[in-house]
Amino acid sequence: MTANDPSSQSLQLTGNGQLKHFLTLDGLDRALLTEILDTADSFIEVGERTIKKVPLLRGKTVVNLFFESSTRTRSTFELAAKRLSADVLNLDISTSATSKGESLSDTLLNLEAMASDMFVVRHSQSGAPHFIAESVTPGVAIINAGDGRHAHPTQAMLDMLTIRQHKGAFEGLKVAIVGDILHSRVARSQIRALNALGAEEVRVIAPGTLLPADVESLGCKVEYDMVRGMQDLDVVIMLRLQKERMEGALLPSEREFYRLYGLSQDKLALARPGCLVMHPGPINRGVEIESAVADGPQSVILNQVTNGIAVRMAVMSMAMSGQVSERTQVAGEQG
Ligand code: NCD
Repeated sequence: MTANDPSSQSLQLTGNGQLKHFLTLDGLDRALLTEILDTADSFIEVGERTIKKVPLLRGKTVVNLFFESSTRTRSTFELAAKRLSADVLNLDISTSATSKGESLSDTLLNLEAMASDMFVVRHSQSGAPHFIAESVTPGVAIINAGDGRHAHPTQAMLDMLTIRQHKGAFEGLKVAIVGDILHSRVARSQIRALNALGAEEVRVIAPGTLLPADVESLGCKVEYDMVRGMQDLDVVIMLRLQKERMEGALLPSEREFYRLYGLSQDKLALARPGCLVMHPGPINRGVEIESAVADGPQSVILNQVTNGIAVRMAVMSMAMSGQVSERTQVAGEQG
């Protein structure tokens, strides 16, 4: 599977163009992305109620299947499913069946036998959620919670919601993504989302060793120098150095990286006034971002986390209703 695989599009949309899985932003148009943001907006209010629940997934079973560690993503998926009134099962795969030699397909067959309705999947292998969506029982929705370097579509959408809340619209915005683009599934999904939603310019700022060879073809401009790259920016998104995915020495040292690409107050001052500071987390203070900036008035890093719940509620409820309407349609055609 490639990042642009058209089969993902037919796999994740119903015949009517509704979402039934959420695997990648490839092939999803502006109208659908806007529908996700609008639906998420409507769920924000649920998080502010005394009783933070709506019955949309009542009686449904959601399984969080995390083959890679996660704090924010796993817990906000869990909260989102619970706020939709689903029953939630969290499986930490590193301590369960796969470590006893069971294959991924067998683990899934067993979970399907427990009448699960949705799998939220994080995997170190690019394409794992796509593979599962191809083989899963009809009616079961697959949501990608980050696969290898390929995609992290709910992260990108919570970032888009945060940008829209603060800037109103995407038109005219110049957005930069800084740091380890090479290993980042987040950057790939953000570039897609920003282009689809009509941002004026998407820029990546990084040393050549942290950029994929085909980076411009993803739909962005490249800047190797951060001082030049910060000019005219409305939003700057910092990324973590994903050392767990690095093979060999790609950087002289963390200190040198911070000097050249770390977001300090001095560098932030080069951007447009009110430039938003974002980071998907986990942040490494003093490596990619100065503490005063991470905690400063332009930082929306914790808003991103809060918005993750509403966006995940939106995607889960939309995919479940896509599955239901497709089942109804198929049953109608057969009857
Ligand atoms: C990101 C991820 O896992 O891809 N984090 C996240 O989902 N909040 C980025 C990272 O790990 O640096």
